[in-house]
Amino acid sequence: MGSRFRGNDEGLKIMTEISALKAGLIADIAAAGTLDALEALRVGALGKSGVVTGLLKTLGGMSPDERMEKGPPIQDLRESVTAALADKKAALEQAALDAKLASEKVDMTLPADLGTQGSVHAVSQVMDELAEIFADLGFSVATGPEIEDDWHNFTALNIPETHPARAMHDTFYFPDEEGQKRMLLRTHTSPVQIRTMMNGTPPPIRIIAPGRVYRSDSDATHTPMFHQIEGLVIDKGITLGHLKWTLETFLKAFFEREDIVLRLRPSYFPFTEPSVEVDVGYTLTNGQRVIGGDGDAADGGWLEVLGSGMVNRRVIEACGLDPDEWQGFAFGTGVDRLAMLKYGMNDLRAFFDGDLRWLKHYGFSALDVPTLSGGVGA
Ligand code: DAH
Repeated sequence: MGSRFRGNDEGLKIMTEISALKAGLIADIAAAGTLDALEALRVGALGKSGVVTGLLKTLGGMSPDERMEKGPPIQDLRESVTAALADKKAALEQAALDAKLASEKVDMTLPADLGTQGSVHAVSQVMDELAEIFADLGFSVATGPEIEDDWHNFTALNIPETHPARAMHDTFYFPDEEGQKRMLLRTHTSPVQIRTMMNGTPPPIRIIAPGRVYRSDSDATHTPMFHQIEGLVIDKGITLGHLKWTLETFLKAFFEREDIVLRLRPSYFPFTEPSVEVDVGYTLTNGQRVIGGDGDAADGGWLEVLGSGMVNRRVIEACGLDPDEWQGFAFGTGVDRLAMLKYGMNDLRAFFDGDLRWLKHYGFSALDVPTLSGGVGA
């Protein structure tokens, strides 16, 4: 009795049917192309009225012997189908994720859109270059107010009230106020010399002072506001030789040329004695003046670039220092003019028009390394 179904035809037939069902279901699962199709297969096999569920239900109505015989293959069918469904589900989910990742991939090699970019104005660029060159020579940057008083701008620089040099400066004065100092827009950066010598820091002094200055003047080479840079050295035993070497080193670094030839001409500034004006040689190349070379050569000429001299002892005295102990030199020049000479612009007024086309053409990228390759002596 115990082997009533063993070897029995009907039993064999059922076993064959189960294994055929299993093979069919597993093949269908393997072929399912989508998660939805797979879910439909799961419901058809293991759902409430699924085929496998139906077979499992028949176990309850079987005799123990029959159940012993048919139970294992039916359980095996359920487990195999469950495992195949889980494997296929994982594979389909992974494929869906892979497809999503492939379609949403960010291409890191695509150049980013930087949008509209501003540029560094030629004046700022040149001021940076100057600060960099003079930093290499041991100069620090000093500043002073643009609204100055008469004493710092003129008197302390040995330009007294009646001095004709005052008339040369086309000064913008503020309205006089009773009992107040006479105020003006500084006409040069030289008052920063006075403020530096008087700020309580004892010499030696080595500073440059870049900044805005104002004069009532306007044409192709003059604007009411422009930029100057002042230099001042106060120490012991300073001579005109130190001045010449400093200016030569600075101009070579600034114009990035070794063949800079200087010409020092005697001149007059109230705050220096002796005073010199410094010309730099240029060479005519395709009708353009290119800085460098001997100005006396057949294809050359001279351009005035600087005012300078040994600091007048009256100025040193006015600042409360002993001129027998301390000497020095000073120089001053136009930053805008230096920019025009180096970068080939010809109308100073365009510097301050704010025309975007000009700024795009002559401006510098903030991300670029300065043109200066490493400062002095590189
Ligand atoms: N302050 C003078 C000017 O604006 C330029 C100048 C000349 C400055 C000689 C100096 C100097 O320091 O020594 O015209």
